[in-house]
Amino acid sequence: MPAVALRCRVCETHHPLDPVGVCSRCFGPLDPVYDRDEQRRTVSRESIAAGPPSIWRYAPFLPVAAPAEPRLAPGLTPLVPAPRLAAAIGVGELWLKLDTANPTHSFKDRVVAVAAAKAVELGRTTLACSSTGNLANAVAARAAAEGLEAVVLCPADLEPEKLVATSVYGARIFAVEGSYDDCSRLSVELSFELDWAFVNVNLRSYYAEGSKTLAYEVAEQLGWELPDAVVAPIASGAMFSKVHQGFADLLALGLVDGTPPRLVGGQAEGCAPVATAFHDGGRVKPVRPRTVARSLAIGSPADGELALATARASGGAIHAVPEDAIADNAALLAETTGVFGETAPAVALGALREAVRRGELGERDRVVLLVTGDGLKTPGLVADRLAPTVVEPDVDPILELLGVQV
Ligand SMILES: Cc1ncc(COP(=O)(O)O)c(C=O)c1O
Ligand SMILES: [Zn+2]
Repeated sequence: MPAVALRCRVCETHHPLDPVGVCSRCFGPLDPVYDRDEQRRTVSRESIAAGPPSIWRYAPFLPVAAPAEPRLAPGLTPLVPAPRLAAAIGVGELWLKLDTANPTHSFKDRVVAVAAAKAVELGRTTLACSSTGNLANAVAARAAAEGLEAVVLCPADLEPEKLVATSVYGARIFAVEGSYDDCSRLSVELSFELDWAFVNVNLRSYYAEGSKTLAYEVAEQLGWELPDAVVAPIASGAMFSKVHQGFADLLALGLVDGTPPRLVGGQAEGCAPVATAFHDGGRVKPVRPRTVARSLAIGSPADGELALATARASGGAIHAVPEDAIADNAALLAETTGVFGETAPAVALGALREAVRRGELGERDRVVLLVTGDGLKTPGLVADRLAPTVVEPDVDPILELLGVQV
């Protein structure tokens, strides 16, 4: 396995590959570092193609060994062209990365699979997290697949579909009467008391790396070419930043040529600390979330500064999407592509349209939109679209309503 250490993002101190969330010297976040020479020796397009049809084909880029017996492996989700949506919004070429096809219908299965592999390696028996919904689903399902206990902390007023899709796997849910940021603080405090594998606390450095597989797959599925831009929703900012790092890995190893894609991020206006900092040119300031995009409702994003730096370094942008435009974007995505995304990808589509409106993206560009979660978990967003015509069980009134003469 080419991962050799964890490195502090702030003071650059190296630490062993332990379950520690922050640097012991400065409390900075930690990222795995890899032996590039070993990666160069062992990884090729052919070795990847010969690997399993899941995230584990990219194991040399991950900080854990692939499980000996992968169960319910996520990844290698479809990348599909979306010509009707491209034409509707004025983008040259548009592709959708359908992470709705993962076992619990969101990209969180990727990150949890990596963290859980580390938890199993460490002999931990309880998988835990704080969550805005999708992560709880993924932790609960992964624990069930691996025979571990699962405990999640979620805001009590989360969409009921997300809570049901956690409890069905037998997970214990603490429904916290507070925000996601309260849940996050509680999970940090509990991690000092309990011997649990908190995927986004003491295993965060491992967990976050799972999102790099989105970049690897996009490049491989485009025939080892890079798109011009990738558009993604932002909550903590981890996925957005790691997707960029994934493309950087491929370039560093010569697996692709060209320039890294511009990373365009979306946040809902009611919780837009990173988008606000991007436009104001300052640092990320915490906010109190008030948004319909519950999966993105993180007011104090752990990787907000990194996401900001990623948008700037890649030549991208981060845009806030008005609350009343989110449902329209979910409907536009569904009506023009047949893909029902949840609130988060609807926000990403809103950010993509804003980038087109500003002339940042357009007819010259090949763009990938990450559909990170499934609309069936947040049906309330578009419930007002439900307007069936109620009829008697008789063909005549239907033909009459259709204006067909018989
Ligand atoms: C569907 C979906 N997309 C995107 C995100 C944002 O991910 P991150 O917190 O890594 O920014 C989340 C976070 O929960 C999510 O549930
Ligand atoms: Zn440090």
